[in-house]
Amino acid sequence: MAITGKDDGTGGGLIRLGMVGGGEGAFIGAVHRLAARMDDHYVFVAGALSSTPEKSIRSGEALGLDPKRTYGGFEEMAKKEGRRKDGIEAVAIVTPNHMHAGPALAFLKAGIHVICDKPLTTSLKEAQKLKAAAEKSGKIFAVTHNYTGYPMVRHARAMVASGELGDIRVVQVEYPQDWLAEPLEQSGQKQADWRTDPARSGAGGCIGDIGTHAYNLADFITGIPVVELSAELTTFVQGRRLDDDTHVRLHYANGAKGTLWASQVAVGNENALRIRVYGTKGGLAWSQENPNYLQFSPIGKPTQTITRGGAGAGGEAGRITRIPPGHPEGYLEGFANIYTEIAHAIRAARIGGKTDSSVMFPTIEDGVKGLAFIEAAVESSAKGGRWTKLKA
Ligand SMILES: NC(=O)c1ccc[n+]([C@@H]2O[C@H](COP(=O)([O-])OP(=O)(O)OC[C@H]3O[C@@H](n4cnc5c(N)ncnc54)[C@H](O)[C@@H]3O)[C@@H](O)[C@H]2O)c1
Repeated sequence: MAITGKDDGTGGGLIRLGMVGGGEGAFIGAVHRLAARMDDHYVFVAGALSSTPEKSIRSGEALGLDPKRTYGGFEEMAKKEGRRKDGIEAVAIVTPNHMHAGPALAFLKAGIHVICDKPLTTSLKEAQKLKAAAEKSGKIFAVTHNYTGYPMVRHARAMVASGELGDIRVVQVEYPQDWLAEPLEQSGQKQADWRTDPARSGAGGCIGDIGTHAYNLADFITGIPVVELSAELTTFVQGRRLDDDTHVRLHYANGAKGTLWASQVAVGNENALRIRVYGTKGGLAWSQENPNYLQFSPIGKPTQTITRGGAGAGGEAGRITRIPPGHPEGYLEGFANIYTEIAHAIRAARIGGKTDSSVMFPTIEDGVKGLAFIEAAVESSAKGGRWTKLKA
């Protein structure tokens, strides 16, 4: 998690944003465009939006892009946008996992900041290479682990950091879904198709797709590194090539113990990401499907509900809260908070950059940690759950 950037305060014009992926029929690209627009920091001006030039051009037209800035492929887009005086300053990469590293490298080379979706790449080695390239370029590299953008998650992190929970002993994080309980990929459904293909998804199925979100959330809130894990990855749906259910035990550097469960076959669950953290002085619980509330149980006292925008929500939550309590904020606002934080850093970079500890967003370091988690879990599971050290 980077702590960087300070808004230059001068405006300096909207940040010109491009996109790779996110064309017709795609899921997360539209979420990125909404998130970028929510606080009026970006203007969407260019794209290589689909896997074929025809679809890309059709998608650009539908979104009202200038035809001259709707490209058939990301290589052409990076080169041409990099050369334009009014070229894009940042690109959002929202393609399937195997198509993250290539575009990211091309845009870094063209001097353009990168906002990439997770998991960062399909292997740890590739992620580390990309990190080295990003550092060399000096460009901002964000990875959209969007659950770190919720006000109550920021508050939970602040509570742990300030010692309100005491020493952390137990972490329980889970992310059950049910949309892959049947062999959806066999129907050709786009999102299921590539997610269950090792060539496009990477060595992990469920563990990479949503296990990494759960892992990142626990990492963000506790701030304590995991040193080793023991995993059991299962493929329940016949004929599927990657795991669809995963149970992971975690050993933290401070001696805390954790359990991470991610499943895409847990019938009855939609996006039930939930975390509970227990320390010597208290415990807390947060659920993504009810994200405006955080439960805090101080030892020996009744459980309190801290509400987004309400009494007890601290400054970390307050600075990314838009509307009064009782009007729900959720997934799109959390995503937009990440985009806004990145915008502060980009604006700071425009004028040479100053640091401000209040600005934070997930970076390529978090992306690398995600790949280290996936690879350790896959390795551990293949060896019957053997305790395996994390390599990042
Ligand atoms: N942060 C989150 O909450 C979240 C949620 C969903 C997906 N994701 C991630 O976002 C990425 C995309 O997922 P999705 O569900 O939107 O997938 P999707 O299949 O819906 O969309 C992918 C898009 O990429 C396009 N594409 C493929 N190859 C391309 C290429 N070479 N050039 C340009 N476009 C290309 C496809 O045509 C499609 O438009 C994945 O890495 C996924 O893990 C993140």
